[in-house]
Amino acid sequence: MAASNEIKMYCVEDSTFCYPSENFQKNALINNNELYNMAKTDGIDFWEKMAEGLKWFRKWETVFDESNPPYYQWFTEGKLNVSYNCLDRHIDEGRGNKRAIVFEGEKGDVVSLTYKELLLEVCKAANVLKQMGIGKGDTVTIWMPMLPETVITMLACTRIGAVHSVVFGGYSPEALRDRIDASGSKLLVTANGSNRKGKEFPMITNAGTIIDECPSLEKVIVLKRTDIPFDLKPGRDHLWDELMNNTEESCSPEEMDAEDPLFILYSSGTTGKPKGILHTTGGYLVGVNTTFRYVFDYKDDDIYWCTADIGWITGHSYVVYGPLSCGATVFIYEGTPDYPARDRFWELIEKYKITILYTAPTAIRTFMRWGEDLPAARDLSSLRLLGSVGEPINPEAWLWFYKHIGNERCPIVDTWWQTETGMIIISPLPGVTPMKPGSATFPFPGVEVDVVDDDGNSAPPEQRGYLVIKTPWPSMLRTLYNDNERYEQTYWSQFPGLYFTGDGAMKDSDDYIWIMGRVDDILNISGHRIGTMEVESALVDHPAVAESAVIGKEDPVKGQSISAFVTLKEKYEGSNDLVDQLKQHVVKKIGPIARPGEIFFTVELPKTRSGKIMRRLLRDIAEGRRLGDVTTLMDPNVIEEIKNKYSS
Ligand code: WT7
Repeated sequence: MAASNEIKMYCVEDSTFCYPSENFQKNALINNNELYNMAKTDGIDFWEKMAEGLKWFRKWETVFDESNPPYYQWFTEGKLNVSYNCLDRHIDEGRGNKRAIVFEGEKGDVVSLTYKELLLEVCKAANVLKQMGIGKGDTVTIWMPMLPETVITMLACTRIGAVHSVVFGGYSPEALRDRIDASGSKLLVTANGSNRKGKEFPMITNAGTIIDECPSLEKVIVLKRTDIPFDLKPGRDHLWDELMNNTEESCSPEEMDAEDPLFILYSSGTTGKPKGILHTTGGYLVGVNTTFRYVFDYKDDDIYWCTADIGWITGHSYVVYGPLSCGATVFIYEGTPDYPARDRFWELIEKYKITILYTAPTAIRTFMRWGEDLPAARDLSSLRLLGSVGEPINPEAWLWFYKHIGNERCPIVDTWWQTETGMIIISPLPGVTPMKPGSATFPFPGVEVDVVDDDGNSAPPEQRGYLVIKTPWPSMLRTLYNDNERYEQTYWSQFPGLYFTGDGAMKDSDDYIWIMGRVDDILNISGHRIGTMEVESALVDHPAVAESAVIGKEDPVKGQSISAFVTLKEKYEGSNDLVDQLKQHVVKKIGPIARPGEIFFTVELPKTRSGKIMRRLLRDIAEGRRLGDVTTLMDPNVIEEIKNKYSS
């Protein structure tokens, strides 16, 4: 698996392999097979060694407890605190004056916090949470823009043992309400609005109506980020600044059990109801700490930028907990790549001398469209490593990224993982693994994956199958919040004893893993997971809609875009106006990320004799393919009619 001794410097477009440069290899944290070998000898022992790098108040009794599958436990009886490991530990070790967070707002406002300063803010916020009646085990929902305060609130929760549930700022108030409700949160931390592309978008002012519909919610904290006026409900609502300016400055970290819940993160599944993915304390931190260090070849002087929003797992694991637990300097940007101009990211890389950039294929494809002149006009020479996550990266985008952003100097780590896995599962080690553009390469040391057929047997090379994880790993989800049955059903019932990822994959003859995308009814829109059922439920919620079927249609930039096939109730008729209304309705129910790209009205939907909608045939139509197997259709005329109308 190691790179050969004969080191090629560059990736040539027609070769399969692409080697890290000699210089990169020489300086890499890991440049031989030691980590792989160590893990191969004994995976449990490997994770135990990794855990020793963190500060534990009390050492674990058992590294891995598999006595009650699939409810696995790691580092049982161990006691630790996540904020302590992300802050105090570095200060104790003499890094208190190192920058932890460097933030730039869309308007150019800059906030820089050293580890000492961040600890102070986190302690104050932790005391504020206590004043709001929050204690160990209580759930706090965070619905915020990308701001230092968002990170501070998360870390404050971990300091006192509260469980956070971060809801992506772009979700609609209704989606927020469902998530507050499902998690039983007592407190909501939010802002009056967010800055986006030169405009201000209301948050709390929008959410006002839904807050009354959340019985568990007792208090709301509002950060003033914009000039949007808002009202505070006396007794319930409080201003962030006022609270932070009037509280104690120190707060000792709660000693948490390794298996105490750390956070819930809601993600889409194959039903209309989002899944509350539950992560716990010790194993999660060991997993993200280890993978951050080795996948990103982390060095003390790095300035690291992950462009993901904190509302997604990438933000949790690789903006907050992975990098901060390693003592890294994390750059955070509030805005989008195209405002005020399309070279915003390159401008920021130049300005802050970013050394590691972790982003998504959809962004890379967008940059490709905007042209290489924009990055070429900036000094990107500080970059030394690039990363990609969220969906399969097509070789064309990989090579563009490699050439025009990395200047053929920076390895690319294509990292495959999921909200459920908590940490990166498949990725190159940048100083070791010869890359193949488009392949996420090999499992991280200490993780075993396979590609299996319908019966759960290893698929031969070059044959498509299902991606499974063969052995538990420390940062795996522990269950779905309040829904053990769905946890067992979704992940552990497909192939007994194996964790089912929901992804299709293939191993090539060199054992490289190629991810082929989801095999279930989950869409991947610009790297964001959206369930077809969620969009369908939102559509059916509209008074005009009788039934709907939603599919992901291949899209050159987003990976997939949403196409909805809709049948209307008797007295309604399809019109452009209704299309707009329905799109707007989905935005209201879920948020802008779920807005359908196209809505197509049809008299009937193609169904099997047992009444199941055949989405696969609709996908064939939308993508302009010949129809697949139609033998199970109840009425073949229906699909013919849709096809004719769609293509005309
Ligand atoms: C799904 C998980 C992990 C953080 C972002 C998304 C797809 C993710 C890759 C990759 C191919 C990828 C998979 C996976 N995916 N990374 N490098 N190559 N596909 O987290 O919302 O939990 O989605 O994203 O389909 O199952 P998520």
